[in-house]
Amino acid sequence: MPAKQHAKLPQPIFHEPIFSEEEATPSPTGFQTKHPSDTKTYDEVQKLLKKDVVEVPKSRIADNDLFRLQDAYGSNHGPKVVDKIQSAKKIIFHAFGDSGASNVRKYSSELHVSDQVTLDCNQSDEANRPAFLFHLGDVVYNFGESQYYYDQFYEPFRNYPAPILAIPGNHDSFVVPGTPKGKEPLTTFQRNFCAKEPVITPEAGSLHRTSMTQPGIYFTLDAPFVRVIGLFSNSLEDPGVLSNREGKWPGINDRQLKFLSAQLKRIKKENYKGAVLLATHHPPYSYSPPPKKGGSGGNHGCSAIMLKQIDEICLQEGVYPHAFLSAHAHNYQRYTRIIKFGKSEIDVPFIVCGDGGHNVNPLVRASKGHPAEEPHPGSTVDYMESSHAAIAAKQLLLEKYDDTNYGYLRIHVDKEQLRIGFHQVGASTLAQSRYDMVTVDLAEHIMVSN
Ligand SMILES: [Fe+2]
Repeated sequence: MPAKQHAKLPQPIFHEPIFSEEEATPSPTGFQTKHPSDTKTYDEVQKLLKKDVVEVPKSRIADNDLFRLQDAYGSNHGPKVVDKIQSAKKIIFHAFGDSGASNVRKYSSELHVSDQVTLDCNQSDEANRPAFLFHLGDVVYNFGESQYYYDQFYEPFRNYPAPILAIPGNHDSFVVPGTPKGKEPLTTFQRNFCAKEPVITPEAGSLHRTSMTQPGIYFTLDAPFVRVIGLFSNSLEDPGVLSNREGKWPGINDRQLKFLSAQLKRIKKENYKGAVLLATHHPPYSYSPPPKKGGSGGNHGCSAIMLKQIDEICLQEGVYPHAFLSAHAHNYQRYTRIIKFGKSEIDVPFIVCGDGGHNVNPLVRASKGHPAEEPHPGSTVDYMESSHAAIAAKQLLLEKYDDTNYGYLRIHVDKEQLRIGFHQVGASTLAQSRYDMVTVDLAEHIMVSN
């Protein structure tokens, strides 16, 4: 059902957020068939997807400020939810990207993922219930149009009973030439994810989920035991771009670099002991086979310059995240980057989880005359480190991957450990669905056995 522009929409009472329908509703029966010109436009703008970036709108709050999970839940429920998480001595949350369905054929895959994470929330006991979903971008295809938010976001997640926060992906931000002022996809994204108050937007149609109240498209979520720093990696198909880079991308400002620097400075100053995660839509690493090996990389590559910029700021501030989360490539990939940072050697998981419903793509594509040669889990992939990297990695390993199933991350953080699990969609129980898990000791920044 398309979003309708109502003059006056019914709004929640007491300005409190609403996340799901009061009574669980069945799977959607309709999907707005895209106008044929959408696909034509997508084909026509392929060249622009390699060069048209968009400006990064300023956050509402200061660079060193935080958006608290408590505030996402609202003043009535927020304090109680946070108390319960503190009492359970751990927090659990979901993360994945690329859930949007660009046509009706992809819709069932999106619904399988959204239904499974919803079921996970509803079947878990209170201490193990995911507290939020951190969406890693590409919520609405092909270009974040207002009229597709209902089918691709609001209805699939209609029964998800918790806040959904998001960083925009390239599909949520690329501006098709001729888009009228005020209808740009980031404007629509901000209306639905970065509202000043929780309100029902025109995109939600007849559903009750209210807009998320993030301070901007880049922000730090401060939840018990964990901070997630989300950065917007802009609108190109590849690579991810964070800043102007001295005129290379004249349409972009450098505000995200200042923001990241301020956030890490705060972590250092506070001697913050919780887990620090960094999230971008475009992956710093995405598998590409070594030269002379059979096949070529999947549909998206590494964003080496983006990682170099992040590394430089981490070095400058003396803080390195415990893990990186990303999406964009439509599969699951888990790397370990072993680096010397300060006086220590640390292990940093870099995870791609872009199989949230839109598609699942093979890690390696066969090239003419050569069969695709898939890597062995645990392979050293040092050659994927850029020669321009700001931090020399001792080793880069591709630990595990899944390029045939849809799935999502289920992340668990307590005082001592960060545990990131990848769950495949389709298994009958939560335990059976878990395909992979990495555990990081927070104090030492090293991987430990699960
Ligand atoms: Fe993407």
